Amino acid sequence: MKITAIFGSPVSKGNTETMAEAFLAECAAAGADITRWRLNELDYKGCSGCMGCKTGHEECVLRDGLTPVLRGLHSADVVVIATPVYFFDVTSQLKGFIDRGFSFLTPQWYKKKDMGRLKPGKELVFVVAQSGAERVFHDMLQRYSAIFTAFGFKPLHLVRGGRLRGPSDIASRPELLVLAREKARLVIAGAPSGDRIPEYNLD
Ligand SMILES: Cc1cc2nc3c(=O)[nH]c(=O)nc-3n(C[C@H](O)[C@H](O)[C@H](O)COP(=O)(O)O)c2cc1C
Repeated sequence: MKITAIFGSPVSKGNTETMAEAFLAECAAAGADITRWRLNELDYKGCSGCMGCKTGHEECVLRDGLTPVLRGLHSADVVVIATPVYFFDVTSQLKGFIDRGFSFLTPQWYKKKDMGRLKPGKELVFVVAQSGAERVFHDMLQRYSAIFTAFGFKPLHLVRGGRLRGPSDIASRPELLVLAREKARLVIAGAPSGDRIPEYNLD
């Protein structure tokens, strides 16, 4: 099993990374081959809206630190995306990556037919830390769930911790690491996600 982990927090070894690493450790013990990317350490731009990926090119035409990350997703079976909530949303580092994911959509994507260039059926795991209560910012998950579904991913598995403020708060929340390991066992077993993310209303 090939796993690509994308860390969206600029804080290394903070709450999201610690939860993601608990997930990854369980997968590594089961023999997974893991590639990690810390977005804050890469030099890249957001989508330039050039439409190059819709007019003759099969991938994003920008060449920068995100190029190997985007290319690597084609061979991943599982993609782990870890982000804290920054102002009710994912971090800008992660949003830049997601916008460049526009290149995963074919020129016909808006017709909702053969939308994606990624092989369909990849597993998606979202790891989220936030200082707010766990039940808030669900709209964020609805949005990104809809976007990654369009990219061809299966319904996401969620590892979310609320009430995490300082980066070391995770140290006193062992139940979140237990949750991360449980989700890893589900993904390894190929079990469907039990997380119900309501569909984003696009009408
Ligand atoms: C710029 C910034 C904006 C933030 N905005 C929010 C927010 O809107 N809602 C929230 O619950 N937490 C917010 N937080 C708190 C982080 O989500 C929280 O501290 C998280 O646990 C950090 O995870 P990390 O240690 O992996 O970086 C914000 C933190 C920063 C630095």
